[in-house]
Amino acid sequence: MKSSSKHWNLIFSGAEDSKLGWYEKDAEKTFELLNQVPNLKDLTVFLPGAGTSILIEQLIAKGAKLVLNDISIEALNKVKGRLQVDSDKIYWLCQDISKPITDAIPNVDIWIDRAVLHFLTREEDIKGYFNNLESKLKVGSYAIFAEFSKTGAPKCAGLTVHRYSIEELSERLSSSFKLITSFNHTYINPNGDPRPYIYGLYKRTT
Ligand SMILES: C[S@@+](CC[C@H](N)C(=O)[O-])C[C@H]1O[C@@H](n2cnc3c(N)ncnc32)[C@H](O)[C@@H]1O
Repeated sequence: MKSSSKHWNLIFSGAEDSKLGWYEKDAEKTFELLNQVPNLKDLTVFLPGAGTSILIEQLIAKGAKLVLNDISIEALNKVKGRLQVDSDKIYWLCQDISKPITDAIPNVDIWIDRAVLHFLTREEDIKGYFNNLESKLKVGSYAIFAEFSKTGAPKCAGLTVHRYSIEELSERLSSSFKLITSFNHTYINPNGDPRPYIYGLYKRTT
C-alpha cells in the first residue's frame, strides 16, 4: 500500500497521539543533533511529515519559525488546535512531500525528518523528496534525518518502509551536503517494541 492522505487521516483521527507507534514525549534524540546547530532563534525549520510531534512546540520555544508539512490534514488540524502562537511564525503545507513545493514557501535553514522519508518506496517519490529538500535549503543550512535503519522493522503504520544506512542517505544528497555526525538509536515504541533508527546531521556547504 502507498502512503496516502486517506491512510494517514484515518490513523490520526483514530488514535490518541500517545498511542501512535512513533510517539515521543520529548524529541531529545533530535536535539542531540540540533544542539550542534548554532542559535535556533529566528531560523526557519522545515518539518516534512511533521505529524503531531512535540518537536513542534520544542522548536517554537527556541524561537524558530516553522514550515509544517504533512500529507494528513487531520494531523495538521490537531497541531493547529493545540498551538497558541503567532501565525506569522508558521507556514502550513498540507501536501505529499514527494511532489514539488510551491515557491510561496520560503527557503529554510534546517530540514528535520523523523520517520517520514522511509515511507517513500518508489524511486520517483524519493527523488521528488530530495529535489524539494535541495530546492528549499539555503547554503549554510542543515538537514537532520531519523529513519528506520537497515536492521529496523520492514513495516510501520501498516506500510512497507524503505530502510536506510547513513551511506545511502549521503548518496541521495548532492555533493553540497557534508555529513557532520550520525548515530544509531533504538526507539522503544508505546507497545514496548524496539525500533532501530539511523540519525544523521548534514551541513550544506555550497
Ligand atoms: C511515523 S509519522 C512521524 C511523524 C513525526 N515526524 C514524528 O516524528 O512524530 C509519519 C508522518 O509522515 C506523514 N507522511 C507520510 N507520508 C507523507 C508524504 N508523502 N508527504 C508528507 N507527509 C507524509 C504522515 O502523515 C505522518 O504524520
